[in-house]
Amino acid sequence: MFETSGRPEGTKAEIYEELARQASGLFHGERDAIANAANLAALIAWGLADLNWAGFYILRGDELVLGPFVGKPACVRIAPGRGVCGTAAAERRSVLVEDVHAFPGHIACDAASASELVVPLLRGERLVGVLDLDSPLKGRFDAEDQSGCEALARLYLAASDPFQG
Ligand code: SME
Repeated sequence: MFETSGRPEGTKAEIYEELARQASGLFHGERDAIANAANLAALIAWGLADLNWAGFYILRGDELVLGPFVGKPACVRIAPGRGVCGTAAAERRSVLVEDVHAFPGHIACDAASASELVVPLLRGERLVGVLDLDSPLKGRFDAEDQSGCEALARLYLAASDPFQG
């Protein structure tokens, strides 16, 4: 089970390496997509400094629907193309926003959010959802956060069965 004394420290690369190691431990022996998403959201929210929201939107039909997360209650449905999450989904690429107030169409779920990173969850070519991180600090996320979160998303997808229902 999850055992650690404190939030990982070191360079960003070291922190993401440690989070990846802990994520693999949490996923071991468990393939449920919701359970693993819930644990990954909790791991990220615990392990990374200066976040106010971390979680998942799951593609259901042609909408992104709120999944497991840590943070304040959030908007439930997002159309692909709308906001940062919808842009990452529609374009199937990670979107890193240094200042959400300068991002046209940003959906303000928590007024405290100042910057955001959204990583698409792709099973081959197929989009199944997005992983969304929000921070109250402007410019909180950089290319290292993007590659670190993309690696966590890949670990998650490999460790979990597709979403049901
Ligand atoms: N800000 C996001 C909406 C989701 S919340 O941040 C949790 C967006 O613009 O897509």
